[in-house]
Amino acid sequence: MQKKVSQGMVDEWIEHVSAFTQLGKVADYIPALEKQDRENIAIGVYHLDGECVGAGKVENTFTIQSISKVLALALALMDQGEDYVFARVGKEPSGDPFHSIAKLETTNPSKPLNPMINAGALAVTNMIEGTTPDEKVGRLLAFVHELANDHSIQYDQEIANSEYETAYLNRSLAFFMKQHHVIEGSIEELLDTYTKQCAIEVNIKQLARIGAVFANEGKDIESGRQIIPRQLARICKTFMVTCGMYDASGSFAIRVGIPAKSGVSGAVMGSVKDFGGIAVFGPALDEKGNSVVGMQLLEMLSSRLELSIF
Ligand code: DON
Repeated sequence: MQKKVSQGMVDEWIEHVSAFTQLGKVADYIPALEKQDRENIAIGVYHLDGECVGAGKVENTFTIQSISKVLALALALMDQGEDYVFARVGKEPSGDPFHSIAKLETTNPSKPLNPMINAGALAVTNMIEGTTPDEKVGRLLAFVHELANDHSIQYDQEIANSEYETAYLNRSLAFFMKQHHVIEGSIEELLDTYTKQCAIEVNIKQLARIGAVFANEGKDIESGRQIIPRQLARICKTFMVTCGMYDASGSFAIRVGIPAKSGVSGAVMGSVKDFGGIAVFGPALDEKGNSVVGMQLLEMLSSRLELSIF
């Protein structure tokens, strides 16, 4: 029997976690993110039969931040193929914080350990086809439009600018990788593309629908069209399991046990085979950079419906 989340369940879970919105810290290293309201919490679930439930601030929009790393990876893999991409980015968890530069120097030959840490994500974005940042971002947005089945999705210019102006660490990672021939071309254009990619703005149901396409082996959940080749969707979900929650991926696998990717905005996208796409949002983060309320919501959902893949 197909597992289903009811409206009553999501209402109950949001009610429960609303007592915890004061825990954790809203990200402030991207100045524009600091303005996010910690009370803005939401959950959305998109079942593979197209039925969708949501609770909390379902109309609120937020930026996807690091969740974009999964989408950029899928697009770069479709553009360049597995061999090209994985000659430049590794497949192993780093065990380090997402913005760490440490292993770039100690790994030989120097290449980022995986596409979910910032170094790896910058290298992946560099591989997206297109001659200008606008063209690359345009292709990424067109891809997101297909995944969400919604052509209105854009990026938030203020948040993109705010990150672009303060992305000193990401610039350092990019310069280091350019020296080692992992990336090529203009660093400023790469940062322009990457910060716009991270600032793509969605609501909770749009994000859940994107997760559902990955859950559905890359096929659109309504039309059945193969948007992402099955093997590439599988690679993306595997990275979500091994590296999606950064250096908390191991404990998350035990606590929740679903392929998921978090972002510093406080959003998390999950994809569960034969079930659907999940999105949770809560701007206050724990010390690893994952949403406090989002983790609680995913834990309740996973245990109540027995969704752990392990
Ligand atoms: O590159 C950055 O630092 C942000 N645009 C994204 C980082 C992020 O979302 C990490 N998430 N936990």
